[in-house]
Amino acid sequence: MCGIVGHIGPKNSVDVVIEGLRRLEYRGYDSAGVSFLDEKNQLHLIKKEGKLQNLIDALGDTQFTAESCIGHTRWATHGGVTDENSHPHMAGRISLVHNGIIENADVLRADLKEKGFQFLSETDSEVFLAIVCTAMDSGLSFFDAVTTSFKKIEGNSAFVILSADEQELIALKRSAPLVCGTLKSSQRAMVSSDAYALVGLVDKLYFPEDEVVCRVSHTSKEMVQFFELDGTPSSRFDIKDQEMSLDSTDKGNFEHFMLKEIYEQPALIRSLSQFYLNGEGLKAIEEMKALGPKKVHISACGTAAYAGSVIRDYIEGLARIPANVELASEFRYRNPIIGKEDLGLFISQSGETADTLAAQELCQENNVSTLAIVNVEGSTLFRECDKNLLIRAGVEIGVASTKAFTQQALTGRLMVAGLKGELADENLKSGLIKKYNLLAERIDQLLENCDYIKDIAENIYNYKGYFYTGRGQYYPISLEGALKLKEIAYVHAEGYAAGELKHGPIALIDENMVNIAIVGPELYDKTVSNIQEIKARKGKIVTIGPKGDKGLEKISDFYIPMDFEGLEELAPLYVNVANQLLAYYMAKFKGTDIDKPRNLAKSVTVE
Ligand code: M6R
Repeated sequence: MCGIVGHIGPKNSVDVVIEGLRRLEYRGYDSAGVSFLDEKNQLHLIKKEGKLQNLIDALGDTQFTAESCIGHTRWATHGGVTDENSHPHMAGRISLVHNGIIENADVLRADLKEKGFQFLSETDSEVFLAIVCTAMDSGLSFFDAVTTSFKKIEGNSAFVILSADEQELIALKRSAPLVCGTLKSSQRAMVSSDAYALVGLVDKLYFPEDEVVCRVSHTSKEMVQFFELDGTPSSRFDIKDQEMSLDSTDKGNFEHFMLKEIYEQPALIRSLSQFYLNGEGLKAIEEMKALGPKKVHISACGTAAYAGSVIRDYIEGLARIPANVELASEFRYRNPIIGKEDLGLFISQSGETADTLAAQELCQENNVSTLAIVNVEGSTLFRECDKNLLIRAGVEIGVASTKAFTQQALTGRLMVAGLKGELADENLKSGLIKKYNLLAERIDQLLENCDYIKDIAENIYNYKGYFYTGRGQYYPISLEGALKLKEIAYVHAEGYAAGELKHGPIALIDENMVNIAIVGPELYDKTVSNIQEIKARKGKIVTIGPKGDKGLEKISDFYIPMDFEGLEELAPLYVNVANQLLAYYMAKFKGTDIDKPRNLAKSVTVE
């Protein structure tokens, strides 16, 4: 969703901020803007609806020598997609950018209007600007105006505010991502909603907690100073060296980030098992046993929720601990029964998904232990949970999640090994390492020779609709397969438990529908019967099934052979890669924007 970048330093701040915004495009946005101070200390504002290029075109060829700049990519919530509603918002000598939602904006706006503030946009963000300006008009300093105004607003938000008079930025947040960075050798200080915008530009990262005020100025010795809302110095922030490299942020020889990320999976799987089974991460897995939950409540959204279903089956099937998985957006409103000895497990790539964070908060309020399986270190979920297992997927740029899903499920499997105390047994441990390596090898083989999946995609991409079906452990894979296709190819696709189709959806089957049927070694006969039911109604059949199964191949229009041997409970993740490729190539034939599909945001920070 919205992205924030702020920069203060002796070099041209506008260029640095534009580069940062370019990196944040993957999060999804519908307009972009910058506000900067020129060498004459004049505050400028340029913002445009649409792609970042529109903003770059509006900036023209002028080389600005601005030392301070803030920028924003907006994903509309309050007010339509227009130039006026784009950020930054400016009044007098102040401009600001905002991520999140001000829940009491309407009430505040009415009051401010009555007092004579002239609003230029329909956004809730401008309401905060109005309160700050009104507070300054009444004699408060910039710092005090921001902090008192912040106390008046409700909801989760992050702000960066630029003051022309102070020549500094103030950044602060409540339950929204915010990171500061510095590169002392270049007198550079930055702030962003996403550490990815700062890669290669700073060498120290600072993660402030909620309601910590970050004062950013390249003229002060510290460049970033932290305060509590009452103005006293704060130590409520973490510091980390910037470790991400610029290589991780480029597509290399791949046409899309999504394809690059699909191909990264075998190497990531190997390094995940190395880290948790043989390396530094072993202790974290071994510590899982002490959690000894009576029941596990898994909450997540979208793809992460489907990874949650795979993990639920590992928890119940292998550790025999009751577990349920729920969409985070439903869990918190359902008044769930959470026992004292239960465990809340939250799965997320970004660690910033608002619904997942709210579900975690509910578990925390119920005083149960919370555990995150998460990709982004330092994210809100990472910090809020009692324990964390990082999925070690690296930056995922494609909005459609691929490698994160695989790593989430596989980290979950390792967590279950920990819960069961499996790793104390060297044989079980080395068996697990072998299985992870075998999975990586099978995915490598699938990726090396996947032109036929592209051919299948070319044959089926223009049908009316798609049913993905699977049973047992392949049911969540069918849901995930359908979600991937919907997201990037903009076609209607549904995932179904294969046995459920005849209870209604089969009415939709005719010669214009495609069934992507997953047939694993388990429940084989029943799943094949379900394929026959579709075939009898003239549906096109694409089967993902055991290699060498001539009978199954014969009843299918297209066949994707899988070598399931030895993969056992990891086999669903292998099948999922075939689904990822199929969705990718279908989207390519459709000509959609694969890495940044319409209407979607990489990380959904509103409920
Ligand atoms: O960052 P998270 O894993 O918490 O995100 C959850 C979902 O928004 C995400 O998985 C979404 O469904 C993806 N676009 C799926 O490809």
